[in-house]
Amino acid sequence: MATLWHGRFAGGPAEALQALNDSLPFDRRMYREDIEGSRAHVRMLTDVGLFTIDERDSVLGALDQVETEIESGEMVFVASDEDIHTAVERRVTELTPAGAKMHTGRSRNDQVANDVRLITRREITEVAELVLRFQRVLLARADEAIENGWYLPGYTHLQRAQPVMLGHHFMAHGWALARDVDRLLDARRRTDVSVLGAGALAGSSLPLDPERSAGYLGFAAVFDNSLDAVADRDFVADTLYALTMLGVHLSRIGEELILWATDEFGFVTLDDGFSTGSSMMPQKKNPDIAELARGKAGRLVGHLTGLLTTMKGLPLTYNKDMQEDKEPLFDALDTVRLTLLALDGMVSTLTIRGDRMAAAADSPYSAATDLAEHLVVDGMAFRDAHAVVGELVRRALDGEASLAQLVAASPDLGSEAAKILEPGVAVQRRTTRGGGGPAAVADQRERFVACIRADKARVSGRAEI
Ligand code: ARG
Repeated sequence: MATLWHGRFAGGPAEALQALNDSLPFDRRMYREDIEGSRAHVRMLTDVGLFTIDERDSVLGALDQVETEIESGEMVFVASDEDIHTAVERRVTELTPAGAKMHTGRSRNDQVANDVRLITRREITEVAELVLRFQRVLLARADEAIENGWYLPGYTHLQRAQPVMLGHHFMAHGWALARDVDRLLDARRRTDVSVLGAGALAGSSLPLDPERSAGYLGFAAVFDNSLDAVADRDFVADTLYALTMLGVHLSRIGEELILWATDEFGFVTLDDGFSTGSSMMPQKKNPDIAELARGKAGRLVGHLTGLLTTMKGLPLTYNKDMQEDKEPLFDALDTVRLTLLALDGMVSTLTIRGDRMAAAADSPYSAATDLAEHLVVDGMAFRDAHAVVGELVRRALDGEASLAQLVAASPDLGSEAAKILEPGVAVQRRTTRGGGGPAAVADQRERFVACIRADKARVSGRAEI
């Protein structure tokens, strides 16, 4: 069997080595990037006089054919194709003798790093677009909630705390996703660096021009140090972290939907298309998508941890351990994409039960802070106001009278203050910037819309990133 390195070896590779060593099953996902990288490399070699125009054209023609063959499934991979780089070069060389010159001034070490950068740059953009799409779903649900005046209890410690507009709650998740878009773009910026020309680790004695190959590939920057260029997988870790944080946010959204869909909360009803049944209990309707959003986050954390653990002990430069970068990266990209699409569908189709949310939020105790703030406006120190209201709450809970009756009878508060306890009143009072009342939420909505619009331009590369 002809390996890329058979010249130095008397015997062929052992079967067990091959089984462990081969990365083709997972790195063939990068075939387009590998071919794109070779096109750029060959053009650069021609520019610097190492390829004739004829050689360039025959290799470019062969690369086109290999791309078509892989795309259509016609390409026959052979046992010696240990990775996608080997497979493409082997096939190009079968198609044209000039193929044997294609690897001039290049190593798989700079080639693979470059391929992973290209695919990561592309797929980050795709994921960011899906995040934007999900943000627009959250915005649409927020708009519906704003229009209907829906509000619900805000929670701390999963205990009812203070009522907020439902639109506020939806946008809270939307802002977390905006940070995810920002992190993805940050990772994309650090990924967008060409490393072609670094060679195996030290550059080349040939007159290569790394800036030219970078230009052909539309990279924003070129490596500065060949050792670092082939040893660096920070951009994979950056991407995994951005994806994992996004996954954690999706998990938290999932967890809430699970709670909200219970009979105990009853805040939402899930659409049949986005829920599952039970094989045994006919009455069940289960929030599997939300549970998987929660479950998949664990897998993402695992990928990030795994990659960092793989990298932490590696001396410069390339070590074969680094072949372990691709499976976690690709799986994380796929996992996040699937989760985003499913949650997007689940959130856009669920039915909101505004009456149930209001009933939960209208517990008079949720307005206790507002009573205390009413006293503060009248000149009382907040700590004293807290104590006055706290005592009334305790007496109400002890069964002496309703909180409203006690408030009305209180010399500090009185019947005017008792109106704060009426349904739907407390939520209206939260007027500060970024707060949960209707006016503040309307204001926030404008900023959220502007944020999505600006991010759309950044993701598609139309704005400075
Ligand atoms: N399949 C390898 C990887 O994914 C390509 C680089 C191989 N380089 C080498 N020196 N053996 O990392």
